[in-house]
This record gives sequence, C-alpha cells and structure tokens, in this order.
Amino acid sequence: MAKIFAGVGTSHVPAIGAAIDRDQTQTDYWKSLFDGYGPVREWMDKEKPDVVIIVYNDHASAFSLELIPTFAMGVAAEFTPADEGYGPRKVPTIQGHPELAWHICESLVFDEFDITIANKLPVDHGLTVPLSITCGKRTEEQSWPFKVIPLCVNVIQYPSPTGNRCYNLGKAIRKAVESFDEDLKVAIFGTGGMSHQLQGERAGLVNSEFDNDFLDDLTNDVDRLINMSHTEYLRESGSEGAELVMWMIMRGAIDKDAKEIYRHYHVPASNTGAGIIILEDPK
Ligand code: DHB
Ligand code: FE
Repeated sequence: MAKIFAGVGTSHVPAIGAAIDRDQTQTDYWKSLFDGYGPVREWMDKEKPDVVIIVYNDHASAFSLELIPTFAMGVAAEFTPADEGYGPRKVPTIQGHPELAWHICESLVFDEFDITIANKLPVDHGLTVPLSITCGKRTEEQSWPFKVIPLCVNVIQYPSPTGNRCYNLGKAIRKAVESFDEDLKVAIFGTGGMSHQLQGERAGLVNSEFDNDFLDDLTNDVDRLINMSHTEYLRESGSEGAELVMWMIMRGAIDKDAKEIYRHYHVPASNTGAGIIILEDPK
C-alpha cells in the first residue's frame, strides 16, 4: 500500500532558484537562508521518498487567464521546466508517476473533487524551486531523486479555493494514496508564501509575526488556519501571501496530530518572508 509519511511547507521564491543556479547560496545575502535548508536536505536524503506530490501554483506559465482550473493534476510521464521569460531553468526534467496520478484523479472525482486532468503541464518556479531547495543544485544532465505529481492550484485569479476546501482536498488525497496498491513512500509539499506582496501600495510587505503564528498553528491550532479567510490572508500576509492556502492541502494530507520535526524562517528572501517546515505523520 502507498502511504503519505510526511509533509513539507516551503516558499517557492524564484530568486531562491536563481541563487542556487548561480552558485550564490553562500553570499552575505543568502547564507542564513540556505544554511537553514541544510537539515531539510539531510532529512530528504535519509527518508528517500519514492514520489512527492508538489502542490504549487502556476504563475501564468502553463495556464493564462483564458483557462483557469481551480485544481489541476499532472498525470504525464514527464514535465519540462517552463520558460518564464529567460528560457527554462537548466534543471532536470521532472519524472511523473502516471499510474498513481491517474489513480488519485479517479479517487478524487469519485469523492466529488472534480480535478482537472493535465496531460501536458510545463512547470514553473512554483514547482522547480521547492525541488532545488529540498534536493540541492542539479543540472539538466542529472535527475531528481524521486518522481513528482504536480498539483496546480489557482491562487492567481479570484475566486480561489478556501482553506477549508484545500484542507479537505488534502484529506481526499491521503485517502486516494492509501488505496493505491503498490508499496510507495509518498511525501507532499505545500508551496508558496510566506507573507509577501509584489504589487501596489503595500508592495514589499512582510509580516513575520503572521508567518511565525502560521508555522506554529500547523501543529498547535490547525482549525484556526482551516477557517482563515482570504480577506485575512490578504490583510495580514499580502496579496501573494495568500499562496499559503496551498499549504493547507499538504496539511490535510497529514494526520491531525502531525509532529513538527524541523522549521526555519528567514527575512528577507527577495520580497518575502521565507519559511520551511517538515511535518511527520505519526502513523
Ligand atoms: C516572488 C515570490 C513568489 O512567490 C513568486 O511566485 C514570484 C516572485 C518574489 O518575491 O520575487
Ligand atoms: Fe508564487
């Protein structure tokens, strides 16, 4: 039987990927952030998941305003890094897991989550930067150490899904994975955030207190986060801080009494508060 054993929440800031690609992780600006990623890589090396479901948002790379799926799952055998304006990142092509991905889609639809099925999905920094953060620098000639199932969420164009909907989707994903008949060790990443706003009068907003409370309540008070409205995300964490709703899919896929085993938080990373947390399932 397949099993989700852990969840990771992490920022997906493009500049973090650029710092890795350009070997700048030990500069004065980046060192503190990247030193905090070291233990996550060690944990990944030790745990060796077979498959990681990466919950992320597309930033107008695969989808435009012409077509806006609320939730879309990539079922392809591979996914290429998207060209976000400077050419695709020179990182390995992402290997998918079509059998598990189709199984999850079927289980979700039977559970009344009408997921969009993506046979072709170029993946942008929302997905590739978390891979680089958790696996370290890899060139195009290398490969990623696990298969990936992309789960793309609309947090760009309102209406976007509530925290409660995301949490319940996470629970349905857990059920789907646990009914897959092959022994697979599966992790789930929720990406985006933490607090940041890239536009308008409040551009540059970072709210460390909000971010740290969010990290605390992933284990202390999940119900507060499940019930957090978009208005509160926007007011407290900025327009792009609302990407944090994707962490609730990760959270829903892990048991309610998850154990926090590591966290790191650093300001600034580009215009954001950057956080990472590992939650292990007690079962
Ligand atoms: C930045 C952060 C993001 O999450 C993103 O998707 C794009 C840009 C930034 O801080 O620059
Ligand atoms: Fe983003």
